[in-house]
Amino acid sequence: MKIPYGKQDIQDEDIAAVVETLKSQFLTQGPAVCDFEKDFAKKVGARFAVAVNNATAGLHLAFKVLNKDPEKKVLVTPITFASSSNCVLFENGKVDFVDVHPQSFNMDLKALEEKLKKDPQGYQGVIVVDFAGQPVDTKALRKLVESYGLWIIEDACHAIGGNFQMSSGEEVIVGSSTYSDFTLFSFHPVKHIATGEGGMITTNDEEHYHQLLKLRSHGIVKEEARFERPCEGGWYHEMQELGFNYRMPDINAALGRSQLKRLEQNIERRQSLARRYREELRDLPIKFQESDLAEGSQISHAYHLFVIQTERRKELYDNLKSHQIFTQVHYIPVYRHPYYESLGFEKGLCPQAEHYYERALSLPLFHAMTDEEQSYVIEKIRSFFGLS
Ligand SMILES: Cc1ncc(COP(=O)(O)O)c(C=O)c1O
Repeated sequence: MKIPYGKQDIQDEDIAAVVETLKSQFLTQGPAVCDFEKDFAKKVGARFAVAVNNATAGLHLAFKVLNKDPEKKVLVTPITFASSSNCVLFENGKVDFVDVHPQSFNMDLKALEEKLKKDPQGYQGVIVVDFAGQPVDTKALRKLVESYGLWIIEDACHAIGGNFQMSSGEEVIVGSSTYSDFTLFSFHPVKHIATGEGGMITTNDEEHYHQLLKLRSHGIVKEEARFERPCEGGWYHEMQELGFNYRMPDINAALGRSQLKRLEQNIERRQSLARRYREELRDLPIKFQESDLAEGSQISHAYHLFVIQTERRKELYDNLKSHQIFTQVHYIPVYRHPYYESLGFEKGLCPQAEHYYERALSLPLFHAMTDEEQSYVIEKIRSFFGLS
């Protein structure tokens, strides 16, 4: 038995949806993208959704739209995939990192507050990540950054289908962008829904939405109402800004739209696998990810990843690999990569993130994982720790 840490699940209905698109008039961005965007926005409760060819491109666009004060830095969580902060560097922006909470591994809002108090004028925005699928309390985040005039990009590449409920009863769905300016999603095959490569940005701001549409397609506008000059005829269009080709092809969108229909069942399966890991590994010398939300709040964790911490991380990784069980480490703190070190970032910047990284391991978790596969993983982990 060979078990990866994550993988896609493609069903006959997905194949049929793609084949239908292949036989249609559009392969590049067309009606399937529009339909996918509409379904997606509805699912997460946002006004607008913009599909892109991957989440990295989406992060780039989101930052480009919000980057109104290029001299000011952007605060990013270090426990994430490099794109979350690279998007700032793409535009020659300045990044700084805020340490993570020791239980949730999401950005620590207390550490953020300390940074802001030390340099209240130094920052223009914050990029948080719903790490492993556990939502950040964006309401508390918004309250904190509001007086400093910061914008919020929520990188929810791990957290489609997640939400949290406060003790007041208010429910915040990840992607609704209720408290974030933009929310980002990835449809890389290890995620909850797969499109090959693909991503989505949600927002409730109409002007930002139109800017995203323009930048996604070379900075070109085709809508007469948005022209800067008089229309010269049916062919007329204007390139108003330096944009990109970050469009999602219809083939990918058809796959994503079909996969989106199974989102709830995929999340339920992931949550049930996670419950079983917690139940059957709880007597071992390992730590699980916990919530950092205020008491009385409840979260619905989307479980892109099931992360544990162990003092014997490398041994466990190698041992499981010898049994064909492939775990992963998410993540090396971004600023510890050679490229970021070349920018001047040094070890010791975020002690909690570094402590977490030294011990972190992501166990196999994907919605198509069978009970038998999970039993095998659990059995091998237990026997590694000398328990059966
Ligand atoms: C937190 C996070 N942000 C951004 C990305 C980038 O996504 P994509 O591969 O769609 O560009 C990923 C991908 O793994 C991710 O995990």
